[in-house]
Amino acid sequence: MARLEIRNLHAEVADDEEETILEGVDLAVESDEIHALMGPNGSGKSTLAKVVAGHPAYRVTEGEVTLHLDGDEFDEPIPEDKRTWDLLDLEPNERAALGIYLGFQYPAEIEGVTMVNFLRTALNAKFEEREELFEDEEDEEEAEEAGYDTSPMEGPADEGEVGVAQFQEILRGKMELLDIDDRFADRYLNAGFSGGEKKQNEVLQAAVLEPEIAILDEIDSGLDIDRLRDVSTGINALRDEEGSGVLMITHYQRILDYVEPDRVHVMLDGQVVMEGGPDLAEKLEDKGYDWVREETYGTA
Ligand SMILES: Nc1ncnc2c1ncn2[C@@H]1O[C@H](COP(=O)(O)OP(=O)(O)O)[C@@H](O)[C@H]1O
Ligand SMILES: [Mg+2]
Repeated sequence: MARLEIRNLHAEVADDEEETILEGVDLAVESDEIHALMGPNGSGKSTLAKVVAGHPAYRVTEGEVTLHLDGDEFDEPIPEDKRTWDLLDLEPNERAALGIYLGFQYPAEIEGVTMVNFLRTALNAKFEEREELFEDEEDEEEAEEAGYDTSPMEGPADEGEVGVAQFQEILRGKMELLDIDDRFADRYLNAGFSGGEKKQNEVLQAAVLEPEIAILDEIDSGLDIDRLRDVSTGINALRDEEGSGVLMITHYQRILDYVEPDRVHVMLDGQVVMEGGPDLAEKLEDKGYDWVREETYGTA
């Protein structure tokens, strides 16, 4: 069971110190739970996601982002002194290796790279990075002194830990889990994908990478009702089948007809100003964000 904890997080635009966006965000997400992060446009939701993932466009000026692991998250037991990580000290790829996934879409098509190859490379990179994060420095030194090669294990012919054939099987299993069409895997990465397919791809990527906490930013935007259902099936499966925690960022209540969140957080002007159960999302639908503003700042 993993827990992502964001405390009093302040962040500004890296090349513009005048522009403070996050003004003390408090929020926690655990594995096995779906949390909805809602809020009006411009309230800082996407910025929060990017700061947690380590995006270089923002600078953290105050606060903490911590990932707590129980010790049984990965194939090998995690030693006690490596279960709590200060994410702000880590590079984006190290955060990813520890299990933070931020849904990504490539604006430019990467020609000739199939989605399958791309994903396999991402998975292997994650394993390799993780091995480096968890390797025991003392063991390593002893082994080196004794003349052993301590470089990370790799599969045959530099394929990485997960080879082509094994990955095909993994992918097929994940697609079944998410109820995704087989033909999908043969397509080129995002090339020729419709908007809806890209969104579904984002969920598939999450399922393959098996994150502790998956952050999905506006995964529901621009989806027709059928695709919204498919994507929702996938998100529910991330929690129910994979045990991932999901932080689902959305402006609208609509997707919450298909994905029942365990918790709802509402952001306004760079802070989380309200939290509650699924009923809070319904209240928001009835009353709108103006109501949140009134509750937060008082009626004039
Ligand atoms: N890189 C950036 N440079 C300048 N302003 C930014 C940058 N990123 C975000 N902002 C500003 O911060 C505010 C919050 O943006 P964002 O996090 O995208 O909000 P949301 O996702 O809730 O709509 C907006 O006013 C936006 O213009
Ligand atoms: Mg946004």
